Amino acid sequence: MRARPVGLHVPVHGDGRAFARLARAFGARILRRDLTELSDLDDLFAPSGPIAESQRGMARAFGVDRARFLVGGASAGLKALVWALPRGTVAVPRDVHRSVVSAAAAAGHRLRVLPTRFDPRFGIPLGPTAEDVAATLAIDGSVRAVVVHHPTYHGVVGDLDALTAVCRERGVAVLVDSAHGAHFGLHPDLPEPAYRHEVDAVVMGMHKSGGALTQGALLLLRGDAVAPERLEEGLALFQSSSPSYLLMASVELAVADLVEGGPGLWARAVDVGLRARKLADRVFSPAPGQNADPTRITVLEPPGSETPSLVAEYRGGGTALYVVGPGIGAQASRRLLTHLRGIVPASPDPLPWDPAGSEPLDPRGALLAQRAWVAPERAAGRVSAGIVSLSPPCVPLALPGETWTPRALGTLTRGLSSGRVAQGLGAGGTVPVVAGS
Ligand SMILES: Cc1ncc(COP(=O)(O)O)c(C=O)c1O
Repeated sequence: MRARPVGLHVPVHGDGRAFARLARAFGARILRRDLTELSDLDDLFAPSGPIAESQRGMARAFGVDRARFLVGGASAGLKALVWALPRGTVAVPRDVHRSVVSAAAAAGHRLRVLPTRFDPRFGIPLGPTAEDVAATLAIDGSVRAVVVHHPTYHGVVGDLDALTAVCRERGVAVLVDSAHGAHFGLHPDLPEPAYRHEVDAVVMGMHKSGGALTQGALLLLRGDAVAPERLEEGLALFQSSSPSYLLMASVELAVADLVEGGPGLWARAVDVGLRARKLADRVFSPAPGQNADPTRITVLEPPGSETPSLVAEYRGGGTALYVVGPGIGAQASRRLLTHLRGIVPASPDPLPWDPAGSEPLDPRGALLAQRAWVAPERAAGRVSAGIVSLSPPCVPLALPGETWTPRALGTLTRGLSSGRVAQGLGAGGTVPVVAGS
């Protein structure tokens, strides 16, 4: 009889026998699968075995040239894509994710914030239109790529075909941040997925709405607007050298669900979202000509009207975001709708976001420069040395290299006094600025 193989490799927890707490918390079944690269298990950064096969299968399923597992969330894919671009300017929406900013700084790219519209009642970003992008490309020939959300955090999608056509005309790559769009296409009332449009790259957050484990994501690439070998280099640079096979396996399973899934899976969530939208005085609903994911429910919810039995994606400043998915049952659906119907709508008090674009920014210079921390009232006209954002709605007020305007500082003060949370501030609410700016 052949002896059972003995695992003499990392991780040393094996099936957890020697780590009782871990085994109790997760169970031997999970721990046995918690593996990383071994000779028979392939190499995420030079795949030739099962990982290569799986990635080829996913590329075929999505109709793209390459698919890559991501084990550091959508952030890892966005960083690798931006890193891989030829040195130049990357145009981004106001609500750009910090991963794009950090990779632009690492690669020495400039950033240009695209004019970005905001909903006048809910204060959430609606994204730049194709016309906004065309206007920016017409004045800045150094733009190499446009990063676009499909959808935004709040579920809003723009006209990706029109935007892509504008970029194609000028040879500019379209990189789609679809961190929140892994479920698109699974129901007639959900938007079309980004990979069905002629874009150059899509990063899908499989873990957020696709059913994979947290941090499991997927990168899809078409053509060579993003150089494949630079991309591989970026993926290795920005991800762990011990990729989790639990995460990768969960992405593979989620993709199988996505490819085989029928409209039934999302039917209840979509129905709840569409019913919620009818409460138009308190629930965000796209204007005619706009489109949005019904399963993202943005609500004007005055403080005091929240209920502890519903855990929102976020709450603050008189707004809340509820995310519904295939797991929502009939009872939870009723509870959510009853709650929304019971809200006494307050008059909206959206933050005054600046919809204008920016001059080209040098995020690398600003992040590496000597910095000073100053009170917001002394920051006007000075160059930001970091990312300062407000949540909700989770939007950067200032990017590294961007000059603080009185308007942005006013939005910061107002946001804080209305119970929102700022990220990127220092002690005593100071903001980071480039020393001497
Ligand atoms: C719009 C957007 N893009 C990218 C990301 C990064 O995704 P991940 O958390 O998978 O790294 C997020 C995270 O929430 C996001 O909201």
